[in-house]
Amino acid sequence: MTRPNTMDGLRVGVLCGGTSPERAGSLASGDAAAKALAELGYSTTLLDTADTTPQQVRDCVDVAVLATHGLGGEDGKLQGALDTFGVPYAGSGVLASAIGMHKPTFKKLIGQSNLDTPRSVVVRRNWTVAMALDAVNIGLGFPVFVKPSSGGGSLEAAVCQDEIELQAFLEMTRGYSYAEYMVEEFIDGTPCTVGVLEVNGKLRVLPVLSVETNREFYDYTAKHDPTQRTESCPSALPDAVTGRMQQYALRAHFLLGAHGYSRADFMVTPSGRVPLLEVNTLPGLSALGNMATMARAADIEYPELLRHILATAYSKPTYLP
Ligand SMILES: Nc1ncnc2c1ncn2[C@@H]1O[C@H](COP(=O)(O)OP(=O)(O)OP(=O)(O)O)[C@@H](O)[C@H]1O
Ligand SMILES: [Mg+2]
Repeated sequence: MTRPNTMDGLRVGVLCGGTSPERAGSLASGDAAAKALAELGYSTTLLDTADTTPQQVRDCVDVAVLATHGLGGEDGKLQGALDTFGVPYAGSGVLASAIGMHKPTFKKLIGQSNLDTPRSVVVRRNWTVAMALDAVNIGLGFPVFVKPSSGGGSLEAAVCQDEIELQAFLEMTRGYSYAEYMVEEFIDGTPCTVGVLEVNGKLRVLPVLSVETNREFYDYTAKHDPTQRTESCPSALPDAVTGRMQQYALRAHFLLGAHGYSRADFMVTPSGRVPLLEVNTLPGLSALGNMATMARAADIEYPELLRHILATAYSKPTYLP
């Protein structure tokens, strides 16, 4: 998409909401992003994808910033619709979004490139618990970490210490939103995240943010209640470890074929292992969120972060799969 001669008068649509289980976080991202873009002087409209069709988006905006998270918003479907209707949008295209959203597929890609990622097996909701337990017992020991294959926000995720806990969790998933879960080797360590951001046409890796929490893991509560976590950015972990994560975050961004910005999540073990959990192609965009905190640590204030993100709509290759 050709960059317009001037960004003045550009009508920017911030898309958010939708129907995914991550709707609440997306509304918060969208609200903050739209305010920042409006402060920068753009004519900005906040649109909820739950009640806005791609045609309506095309008719009222020149370019879209996506504050959508999870199913339908981060998994390539919205991106495909916008491509079809000719709406330029910031960030990754269809293929990177789809692969990034499906953790097992992403992990295959990462595994082939010799990047460390926790060992895992996939279990489906229509399997019997016995089948799922077999798969886990063949492939992994206990404890394990269970999460939706295409989830986010630590929703519907749990640590299971043994077969009994895993059985109870899998039975519970029958009432949950997702059809497929991933059971991973449990990594005892510190959650860390690393942002990648295109700044004036060049990819920059942001400082590492590490998290301490007294909760069992960096769960939904710890992510939403600041009293339940302590963040350090830049992280106080040894430079050799943070440097390795930054290098892996950039490699993973390229391997995925992500465009413009992304956020890679890691666990760091006491022995210095840094297994990569996932790459988020549409990381949360709230003003106090991880991406904003990492940008600030790199002297990029929040509105500037949004300006750089918006610019990625115009730095895409002509065809992005
Ligand atoms: N294999 C694992 N071993 C131990 N803890 C894990 C493992 N996988 C995930 N976790 C815990 O769950 C948190 C969230 O993991 P992950 O990033 O994979 O999930 P998510 O729901 O996609 O998160 P988000 O979308 O908010 O980034 C991690 O920070 C960590 O605390
Ligand atoms: Mg994550």
